[in-house]
Amino acid sequence: MGYLIHFSIFDFSHTSTSMTAAEIRAQFLEFFRQREHLIVPSAPVVPQDDPTLLFTNAGMNQFKPSFLGLQKPAAPRIADTQKCIRVSGKHNDLEEVGVSPYHHTFFEMLGNWSFGDYFKKDSIRWGWELFTQVYRLPKDKLYASVYETDDEAETLWKSETDIIPSHVLRFGKKDNWWSMGDTGPCGPCTEIHIDRGPEYDTDPKAFVNTGSPRYIELWNHVFIQFDQQADGKLVQLPAKHVDTGAGLERLATVLGGFRSNYDTDLFQPIIRAIADLTGKTYAQDENGIPHRVIADHLRCLTFAIGDGAMPGNEGRGYVLRRILRRASRFGRKLEMHEPFIYKLVPVLVDTMAEIFPEVKERHAHITRVIEAEESHFGKTLDRGLEQFESVTSSVRKRGETIIPGEEAFKLYDTFGFPLDLTQLMARENGLTVDETGFTSAMESQRQRARAASMFEKVADVEFLNFLLEGSDVIKSEFVGYDTLKIRTRLTFAGFDSSRLVIAFTPTENPFYMESGGQVSDAGTIMVLDGDEHFGFRVVRVERRDDITYLYAQPNEQFDLSDFLSRFKRSSQMDGMLEVSPAHRIPTQYNHTVTHLLHKALRETFGDHVHQAGSYVGPDYLRFDYTHFEKPKPEELARIEERVNEFIRENLPVTPKIMPIKEAQALGAMALFGEKYGDEVRMIEIAEGDHVISRELCGGCHVKRTGDIGVFVIKAETSAAAGVRRIEALTGEAARAFLSSQRAKVDDFIELLGSAGSDPVEKLKLMLDEKRKLQKELDYLRGQTAASSMQDLAQKATVAGGVSVVSARVSADNMDQLKEMGDALRDRLKTGIGILGTVFDEKPSLVVVVTPDLVKAGWDATPLVKEIAKLLQGGGGGRPHMATAGGKRTEMLDEAIAQAASIVEKFATQVAAK
Ligand code: SER
Repeated sequence: MGYLIHFSIFDFSHTSTSMTAAEIRAQFLEFFRQREHLIVPSAPVVPQDDPTLLFTNAGMNQFKPSFLGLQKPAAPRIADTQKCIRVSGKHNDLEEVGVSPYHHTFFEMLGNWSFGDYFKKDSIRWGWELFTQVYRLPKDKLYASVYETDDEAETLWKSETDIIPSHVLRFGKKDNWWSMGDTGPCGPCTEIHIDRGPEYDTDPKAFVNTGSPRYIELWNHVFIQFDQQADGKLVQLPAKHVDTGAGLERLATVLGGFRSNYDTDLFQPIIRAIADLTGKTYAQDENGIPHRVIADHLRCLTFAIGDGAMPGNEGRGYVLRRILRRASRFGRKLEMHEPFIYKLVPVLVDTMAEIFPEVKERHAHITRVIEAEESHFGKTLDRGLEQFESVTSSVRKRGETIIPGEEAFKLYDTFGFPLDLTQLMARENGLTVDETGFTSAMESQRQRARAASMFEKVADVEFLNFLLEGSDVIKSEFVGYDTLKIRTRLTFAGFDSSRLVIAFTPTENPFYMESGGQVSDAGTIMVLDGDEHFGFRVVRVERRDDITYLYAQPNEQFDLSDFLSRFKRSSQMDGMLEVSPAHRIPTQYNHTVTHLLHKALRETFGDHVHQAGSYVGPDYLRFDYTHFEKPKPEELARIEERVNEFIRENLPVTPKIMPIKEAQALGAMALFGEKYGDEVRMIEIAEGDHVISRELCGGCHVKRTGDIGVFVIKAETSAAAGVRRIEALTGEAARAFLSSQRAKVDDFIELLGSAGSDPVEKLKLMLDEKRKLQKELDYLRGQTAASSMQDLAQKATVAGGVSVVSARVSADNMDQLKEMGDALRDRLKTGIGILGTVFDEKPSLVVVVTPDLVKAGWDATPLVKEIAKLLQGGGGGRPHMATAGGKRTEMLDEAIAQAASIVEKFATQVAAK
């Protein structure tokens, strides 16, 4: 660590020694434990039930429902260290990373909370006590900022602490008002800052909140009192709370006497590993930026992937992909052209496993996902960098400073460069990117793609457009959760004559349209016209805005022209609509069971398990979920058993409509990337306090879990890196599957003749027996071949001065033919053997040469090639043995007959060697 400069702006002689991050963390938690705080584990960085948030960005996120008065906290006072990621939305530090010594994508936030318990006075008092008495920070270097109108906080600073009174400063909304996002809990805050001394900034204007590295914020205490609404209004909360947050990395820097967070023991092991791996020494100046960015991004990727996030093309996944690509690109600066970031995971895991055991548990998954991503991007990165060079040089040649949007888009589209990566590289070159041009290039590509995909379905699209132009259609109310059959008014919305499809719009509609993995319903429509009935099959369900279109084909029993003479487009009529129970009921089994399976998976593997996709149809269900390794057979058996237990408990399945905040407070699982309105539908599987599952879901479900009957896992596979897939059956399909499995087992037992004994044991014995017999057979075959080769060897003729044997033999495959060749060579002592045979309806040859002749210059390869020409084939091998195959089976005897003269031809060449 020779290159680390220990800075002593403070006199550390009065502190024990400079503190490690682990000590700082432990002392923080201990301090609050002694003040009756419950110490809780960090929540995952992937929020479990808040679709408004990409990543956990503050310690208080997990307590949001408690601040809003929706949920009782586990205790009135809580403290923890929270894993946080700030890369998007309101709190985003990405651009600063690596350049700034104390901004990160991932960091730990130490925090303490009061839920309607203590307020400003204790928060300030304890804050001062911890900083000055436990951490022993120099009082004269500390500053407190308070919100411009918060007289109370200022007074408390002066009465409760011995801070230098002139060090209490007032700031406006930008600096001293904290809110979680555009909506949610918020309030005025007071922050503790430290003056690190003029060595950090000689600018005389440097001061608190000027962005100077000399004055940095260490601890924020927020006095949460309001819930900010989307329109900016502040709604007073039922109680007053405290929410504090102190970045561990900064504390480690200041208390360790370091200049930069990267010099602390949270980062140094990683930075050293990067230097070792790349052979590039770390420097604290600009040259160390790649090391710092990679170390930072590694932490972010590791914790996010460990908590179940996956790199991808959208939302949270794209954030991770961007981060990884930035890191990869900084790897190129260190001349790393192969994936290497994944190799750093173990070092990070070692430094963090004690406090966050999940990264240790999931390190194999994390490593695999990072490696897969790196190697994927690695394929285009170098070419993309060349492309970037050529773009920048032509921009410069033109005397310009802006990279055209289309060029940035090409880097994105062809080489996978996220816009922010191109922007970052542009900045490094003193250039900028035309962002508007980029967006419009992206948009026109989207339109082209949309046009292309529409082209394939042109008939459907034209038809739908035609329908949408119709005016007299009725809005449809979905009644299918409870009703499968209903008589209702229908409008004739349109007729597609090429496919004999009529579209109806029903007033009340029982047909579910594909959504959330659940397939569209199938069923029938019976149009009632006086005594006449016209039957249709529903082949497709479409919905646009509030109108549902049922595409239906006529049953064969009636004449469509009769129907069309009675009804015109826009005519209204009565109809009986019926969703096929044979289609819907098993679909419901399969839907409810995905919720049970989700629960069983999380119970078995942990909270990193998230739904990553599903198919819910009448025939089977498929459930994709994030998990790092192939489940063991006993884990799968356990999961299957758990789901069946839930089924046997026969729990009520209750849909509930409620405000999203309430659902969140109840811990309902939401699918990330889904857009939820203010009112949501939550499916609860619970009996009283015994809650199995709560998920936001618009699908169709059974009334009680017992309806499902039975659940069987049929297949377990990998769906993508870090995503596993389960295919399963329920109800009658599961029973039929089990019964066909049993029939197979019965057949198997009968064939084995093992009735009454264990068929598996019997099969094992038989397989052993088979292996033994095979061995014997191989031996005997060898013996037979040897003796017939002995006979052949005796029939050798002489050609070109050497003994030659050529014969047609019978062999079943190339291995056998080669074995015969070996046997022949052994028997020949000196000479050349040529054997031919036919298997798989094709001729094959082997040529063998004894070692003395190989020494003398003979080579089986050209020989076999030459002979194989007669068979229209080719081959190869080594001097002592070569093989060939051919096409002309009928020429095999001829080829064998000519073999000796071919040997003779080669003799002159050999003699010449
Ligand atoms: N929530 C506040 C912050 O993130 C204090 O913890 O700064």
